[in-house]
Amino acid sequence: MRKYLVAGNWKMNGSNAANAGLVDGILAAQPGSDNVELLVCPPFPYLAAVAAQLAGSTVALGAQTVSEHEKGAFTGETAASMLVDTGCRYVLVGHSERRALYGESSDQVAAKFAAALAAGLKPVLCVGETLEEREAGQTEAVIDEQLGAVLESSGVEAFQRAVIAYEPVWAIGTGKTATPEQAQDVHRHIRSRMAARDEATANAVQILYGGSVKGDNAAGLFGMADIDGGLIGGASLKAPDFIAIAEAAASLS
Ligand code: PGA
Repeated sequence: MRKYLVAGNWKMNGSNAANAGLVDGILAAQPGSDNVELLVCPPFPYLAAVAAQLAGSTVALGAQTVSEHEKGAFTGETAASMLVDTGCRYVLVGHSERRALYGESSDQVAAKFAAALAAGLKPVLCVGETLEEREAGQTEAVIDEQLGAVLESSGVEAFQRAVIAYEPVWAIGTGKTATPEQAQDVHRHIRSRMAARDEATANAVQILYGGSVKGDNAAGLFGMADIDGGLIGGASLKAPDFIAIAEAAASLS
């Protein structure tokens, strides 16, 4: 039985004061379900402070990206071992904003995924198509290419220690959510791609949906057979909104 994971991607938002209030709100309202895991991913400069605030709670900490290199002369980059050292258990890799705005290729994302795993972090591999790709009927081909790069380099078993997030680019920050059926179609496709290589891993891996998830659409999405939670952007910045999504997951478990 897969647990739900509700993950907040804070992107480039926040301040020490705002984060403290947000984390306080999450900790105060933490919905009591053994079947819902919570994760927050603040910007790098705030990881240590948020780690300290989360200490002793069940809410996990993650970063939003990671270097594919282990250490050395890579100015401005952050190694996976440093994230572990700072209290992170997870890291997002291949978010569509990283792919589109910073030119991260699927091979580079696969290298980041491998670096995260090697350091003991759980990578959350983000995949998803643009509107043009969807309209051209290329959704599955795009997902296959993005997922394939990681399957080829790390192998299917690596997903026993990883999470996948399906985030259609056209649904991110737009208020346009995929319908539960649209999302489920892609989630089913992802799981069947995995199952072709290893059934047990396919059944165990959490596949999150991301893209304009809110308290009022979360239950519909999370109720689908292959949707195991959400990667939440905008609605993760206010504790009541984030908690409403976690509660939607708890109500289904
Ligand atoms: P959104 O972002 O919830 O604001 O659409 C999701 C994401 O980019 O992870």
